[in-house]
Amino acid sequence: MNAIKTTGLEYSYPDRTKALSGINFVAKRAEKIAVLGANGSGKTTLFFHFNGLFEPTGGEIKVFGKKIQGSNIDEIRRRVGLVFQNPDTQLFAHTVYEDIAFGPRNIGLSADDVRSRVSQVLNRFDIEDLAGKNPANLSGGQKKRVSIAGVVAMEPDVMVLDEPTSNMDARGVTDTMEILDELNHEGKTIIISTHDSDLAASWADRVYILNRGRVFRSGTPGHIFADEKLLLEAGMKHPVLVQTFREFHARGISKGEVPLSVLDFMESVDSPRVMDIRCAVAGCEISAGDEVRLRLEDGMLVANKGTYGVIGKAVFGANEGEDLAVKDVEAAIDQLSGNITVIKVPGITEGGSRAVDTEKVLGFINENNKSKIGAMGTSAKVLANKIGIKCDIEFDVIQSSILAALRGFDVTIFASGRMGERVIEKVREKGINCTSMML
Ligand SMILES: Nc1ncnc2c1ncn2[C@@H]1O[C@H](COP(=O)(O)OP(=O)(O)OP(=O)(O)O)[C@@H](O)[C@H]1O
Ligand SMILES: [Mg+2]
Repeated sequence: MNAIKTTGLEYSYPDRTKALSGINFVAKRAEKIAVLGANGSGKTTLFFHFNGLFEPTGGEIKVFGKKIQGSNIDEIRRRVGLVFQNPDTQLFAHTVYEDIAFGPRNIGLSADDVRSRVSQVLNRFDIEDLAGKNPANLSGGQKKRVSIAGVVAMEPDVMVLDEPTSNMDARGVTDTMEILDELNHEGKTIIISTHDSDLAASWADRVYILNRGRVFRSGTPGHIFADEKLLLEAGMKHPVLVQTFREFHARGISKGEVPLSVLDFMESVDSPRVMDIRCAVAGCEISAGDEVRLRLEDGMLVANKGTYGVIGKAVFGANEGEDLAVKDVEAAIDQLSGNITVIKVPGITEGGSRAVDTEKVLGFINENNKSKIGAMGTSAKVLANKIGIKCDIEFDVIQSSILAALRGFDVTIFASGRMGERVIEKVREKGINCTSMML
């Protein structure tokens, strides 16, 4: 079923500016959609229609199959939550706590339910320490976080977020997109607008490009970003990764589809089975012509005379720590990848980190003390914080963990709720050895 569908949607502002000219837009249930477009292309105007804030001057909009009317507007607003581009338009109460509590209270929840929703959301967004502050005195990025939290507290089926990550630092962007992913896994439809084509490429199921109030193109990120001219015509830049891929592709080094992540890019690089490699010598002396073994140690490729690793032949002699050229390497280096262990932490709706035996976790961490650690999802991060585990992998946890494993590191990922299953699936897809543990 479609969560939102517009047909020939038109909108003119009172001063006769025609902001939307025949928009056909569809967001299916539980889809993640990114709307891209230059300034003034109509993103905000379109979003204002999704919860009935604006009435179209032409065409129509349906939410879960129903036309928006005066009689169902309250229901529509409960089901579709809108986060404004400018948080100052959204935040109005004297404290962050009150601001977040306003929505749930307004839909008639009991005082206890309001309290529990607010505390869950403050926890999820890691803004408990801001609860007593006046929203007017927050930084731009903090305001944005609080305004998103306020809409999450309403538990709408569709979340519409107008440039949710503008003003945010890298940590804020990662956390926010992760929370949106988590909500999407709980079945919510997420629609964002953004100027960040890298973000749209790696996050969205489908992308819409608006240009002067029209849908310029829509499709999967792979389809949209494969078209070299399209984005430029709509006044936008290609993701750096896509530009790099094109240069590699033109030189015959990369092959296949346009990559949407660093990992995709690594896979696009053609690795011949016999190749010459330069690396350091570890723990021995090597003479010209010696058979050497290549191994990954601390994330770097080294050569030694051991029995384990990929075989090659030294081009010249070298001492420990010196550089060595190795020729005729006859296997893929990624055979040397480390292991990934996924530790599944109960999700925030299943009791979260409170339900966890922390001794068991500490025992595991001590036994695997060389493993790199990452945490994704709210309850996993809360758990890591609570027991004082320092995470080595902070951003893009799935991708960064796979890349670390491909460089020979063992990795432990704490993942909340259903995210754990998705991590395992992605890791196995890449052919990396993966075990899991339930807490
Ligand atoms: N209140 C208004 N009155 C008249 N014209 C308006 C009004 N608000 C927006 N517009 C016009 O409507 C068009 C679409 O604006 P909109 O804010 O929807 O663009 P946008 O894609 O969200 O841009 P941005 O990336 O800058 O946020 C623009 O030409 C803009 O000037
Ligand atoms: Mg806008």
